[in-house]
Amino acid sequence: MNIIKQKILVYLIKNLTHQRLQHSVQVAILAEDIAYNYEKIDPNKVYLAAILHDCAKCMSNTDLISFVNRYNLQIFDKDIIIKHCPNLLHSFVGSSIAKVKFQIQDEDILNAIQFHSQGRKDMSTCEKIIFISDFIAHKKNKLEILKLINSAKDNLNLTFMNVLISKIKYNLRRHFYLSNQIIDTWNWYIQN
Ligand SMILES: [Fe+2]
Ligand SMILES: [Fe+2]
Repeated sequence: MNIIKQKILVYLIKNLTHQRLQHSVQVAILAEDIAYNYEKIDPNKVYLAAILHDCAKCMSNTDLISFVNRYNLQIFDKDIIIKHCPNLLHSFVGSSIAKVKFQIQDEDILNAIQFHSQGRKDMSTCEKIIFISDFIAHKKNKLEILKLINSAKDNLNLTFMNVLISKIKYNLRRHFYLSNQIIDTWNWYIQN
């Protein structure tokens, strides 16, 4: 294991709950496995994005908001997110931690962390793999997990759309807040 991966693991062990750490490792294993099926993507880079995607997930909402304000992070609809769903800030803060603390320069990795939850227009292969793997890792049913993994290996774009639909439906069914970011993601993909 190289030094950067070791440093990341030490940080995650210190800053995440056991359950969140397990989730992060699971997403990393899944994402790397899916990445091996796509020639133009480096599985090592996908692993880094995946293991880091929730590195800020265990910060309190107060800490997330003060981080965002202190470093003046540029976030679409920042005030609305802070008001309705501050937890969504974890992806932006996580991307910033990856850049500053672990010197990750690769914009694709940083974007994959930043948009793992709500997506965005015109996502890269790496971004889509993280988005999908995060969704799969929350599933409990083994058959459903296997079907999703096979689908992701077979047709990444179709699987991405199905995951996006599932995420939106989940929020609608529970009367949860639907961010403008995920609505924009949806609107972009149905037109492109
Ligand atoms: Fe997350
Ligand atoms: Fe996650």
